[in-house]
Amino acid sequence: MSNIESIEKEAFEKLSSITTLDELEAFRIEFLGKKGRVSGLLKTLGSLPPPERASFGKSANALKQKLELSFQEKRGQIEKGAAKKKKHDLTLPGIWPETGRVHPLTQTLRDILRIFEKLGFEVVDGREIETEFYNFTALNIPLDHPSRDGFDTFYTESGHLLRSQTSTVQIRVMENRKPPLRIVAPGRVYRPDTVDATHSFMFHQVEGLFVDSKVTFSDLKGVLSIFVRELFGSKVEVRFRPHYFPFTEPSVEVDMTNITVEANPGYKRGPLWLEILGAGSVHPKVFEAVGYDPAKVQGFAFGLGVERIAMLRYGIQDIRLFFENDVRFLRQF
Ligand code: PHE
Repeated sequence: MSNIESIEKEAFEKLSSITTLDELEAFRIEFLGKKGRVSGLLKTLGSLPPPERASFGKSANALKQKLELSFQEKRGQIEKGAAKKKKHDLTLPGIWPETGRVHPLTQTLRDILRIFEKLGFEVVDGREIETEFYNFTALNIPLDHPSRDGFDTFYTESGHLLRSQTSTVQIRVMENRKPPLRIVAPGRVYRPDTVDATHSFMFHQVEGLFVDSKVTFSDLKGVLSIFVRELFGSKVEVRFRPHYFPFTEPSVEVDMTNITVEANPGYKRGPLWLEILGAGSVHPKVFEAVGYDPAKVQGFAFGLGVERIAMLRYGIQDIRLFFENDVRFLRQF
């Protein structure tokens, strides 16, 4: 009798810890198989004294039935669990991969560069950490010029600075090459301005430089007029307004008007002139600084702000939107 009870106890303990069909099958073979332990009990029947046989047989058969029932029940549970795990809810919405997109500044920059590349300009790289020589001195900016002040330029403790304009690249390229040159140099520039809707301590410029034996001011006007009309459309009008830069002479600021209201909801059509870039004929002092003979070469240079152009293009009113990484803004481009 005690044998039956101990097998029962063991069997139910095992069964309760089983979680897979494989384990369950092993259990079946061990306890309920032809050569299993319950059959083994019944085989001992003949060796018992006759008065005990009937009750032992009854108990053994009862255990067999109980175990078989529990075995079936367990199999049902395991199969149900597996089915539940596999089941997909086909009414759920699908999972869309988040697709990235090109930042509006990058889009604008690419469009700007593409126009100049079509006009024969080569795209070159500069560096963001510079010396006073490249950012000021070689560009004919005098020592007492306000832009050299610590309020207008970021200086490092080692005597370097973060370039405040891409005009540095004019010098770096001319130092290393001989004319003719036709380059555009995009990149970041830094100025310690207080951040507001139209100022950022970091923004992007594209510098342009054209040097050859004969380059006139009409070449400058032609190239920049084509550029503005290619970027903003043929209805746009361009105006060259006298200005001053130490590294160009004569110098101009270029304004445009008539950008369409449809494309630029933030700006009104009309006689409103918007400044979009600075330019001029390369100053002889700049040629001298890089070892060119000002009597033998001529050229023009220009510099434009990428954020400003992107803001005009898309009707964006706040420069900070470009740098906040808010996907609700970025998703629109
Ligand atoms: N470097 C000037 C600026 O940052 C722009 C400029 C470039 C003007 C080249 C003339 C020629 O304002």
